[in-house]
Amino acid sequence: MMKAVVVFAVLLAVVLADGSSSHFRKTFNRLHQEPPPPPVSPGLGRAAKVETKWITQKLDHYDKNNDKTWQMRYLSNEEHFKAGGPIFIFVGGEWEVSNGYLIGGHMYDMAKEHNGSMFYTEHRYYGKSQPTENLSTENLKYLDVKQALYDLSHFISTVKKEISGLTNSKVILVGGSYSATMVTWFQRMFPGEAVGSWASSAPLLAKVNFVEYKEVTGQSIRQMGGEACYNRIENAVAELESMMFNNRAAEVKALFKLCNNFNPSNDLDVYSFFGEISDIFAGIVQTHRGNSIQKACADVMKGDNDVEGLATFVLKQTYNPKYGCVDVTYQALVEAMGDTSDSSYMMRQWFYQTCNEYGWYQTSGSKLQPFGTKFPEDLYINACKDAYSEYFTKNTIYENIAATNEFFGALNPGTDNVYFTHGQLDPWRAMGLQEEGKATVIPEHAHCMDFGSISDSDTAEMKASKVKVAELVRTWLK
Ligand SMILES: *[C@@H]1O[C@H](CO)[C@@H](O)[C@H](O)[C@H]1NC(C)=O
Ligand SMILES: *[C@@H]1O[C@H](CO)[C@@H](O)[C@H](O)[C@H]1NC(C)=O
Repeated sequence: MMKAVVVFAVLLAVVLADGSSSHFRKTFNRLHQEPPPPPVSPGLGRAAKVETKWITQKLDHYDKNNDKTWQMRYLSNEEHFKAGGPIFIFVGGEWEVSNGYLIGGHMYDMAKEHNGSMFYTEHRYYGKSQPTENLSTENLKYLDVKQALYDLSHFISTVKKEISGLTNSKVILVGGSYSATMVTWFQRMFPGEAVGSWASSAPLLAKVNFVEYKEVTGQSIRQMGGEACYNRIENAVAELESMMFNNRAAEVKALFKLCNNFNPSNDLDVYSFFGEISDIFAGIVQTHRGNSIQKACADVMKGDNDVEGLATFVLKQTYNPKYGCVDVTYQALVEAMGDTSDSSYMMRQWFYQTCNEYGWYQTSGSKLQPFGTKFPEDLYINACKDAYSEYFTKNTIYENIAATNEFFGALNPGTDNVYFTHGQLDPWRAMGLQEEGKATVIPEHAHCMDFGSISDSDTAEMKASKVKVAELVRTWLK
């Protein structure tokens, strides 16, 4: 009996935690998960070599008088390490660290070649690396990239000091997505502490109204999924917008099984709905592998007409019979960012960083994309205010983002020992350095897809880029 009650309570907790806001979190996770760890053949037993460790970090690296500290998690694998060998660090971003990068893939192979030690650091406020007891807005003031880069610098000097054989070791940093941004900016803030960085899919230009994101999403759909698919999405969204504003909102609600609380005369609800449709496609494009975009397009093309094709496809991603309806209201979006007691979702932390440092709102501000006009920057600016603080207004957010570009140099980071790679299909590349000679854009690949070992199944361009990383690392370590 006791047991049954406990089980019931647990089930109830799961249902509640996953309730109305589950949908935004799911989409968020797809777009902000750990870059897919490289595939490793089963049975190698390498995972057993990975150790979880903790290091003491200062809460506020900027305040000498604040001596509060917290424990940062990191993973290490010394399988290939020989005294004097280099240090390879895979730097964690807005996700929880896992074994993957320390048991296989290109960095693992390079550590093996150079007798290097391998580490994977977790970013403050993500995963188990929680500096404060909860995520109240007040507590989030210690969450920013500069603090995280100080953590990384302290990590490097500490392992060099404390692990024998590392005292004079050279350091190579590897990062993907936001952590690729970090391994670039680290070179700028702490020149000389790492001999080189490999930045895969690094956005460098902070921008509030990041209209290019959905432009590239659309281009990639057109390129891999075909013109008909692109046109169907564009026509369907246009028709839905017109239905929404011509007294046919009830039909839209029925088609997408929206919950009753969705209010078509509330702009923010309308914005959340259309933003979510576009983000579902973004999730497929950003993580494209094999034929994901083609498969999604085949589904979109199935319906008898544009709106039906889109709705059937979207419902497959959003509708869960357990809840009976889909809650994509603005309120549900803000609630998904609002939970100050549970750090495991990471949406609250990352969204805070966007309000405070980067913007990167993937809005409908461009006509050169198929997702319509109804998810402007106002949606996200309002969410910054409602999920965190009145401090966030359009003005303060724009000022914050300008300060980030000023401090880190945007597309001129002034670093000469960083190798930049991008996937051509990846919408993030629009905020990165893509110039030939400074960066490699790998055709027909998405976000952070180049971390695997050099393989015969790589395209020629993928292989050439990985070979180039390996050659650069040899030069840096000479
Ligand atoms: C790695 O260690 C092995 C065995 O000690 C040594 O023969 C080899 O030269 C080392 N490789 C590098 C790149 O230092
Ligand atoms: C969050 O933590 C702070 C201390 O860091 C505490 O004062 C506050 O009451 C906590 N808030 C909640 C909602 O638990």
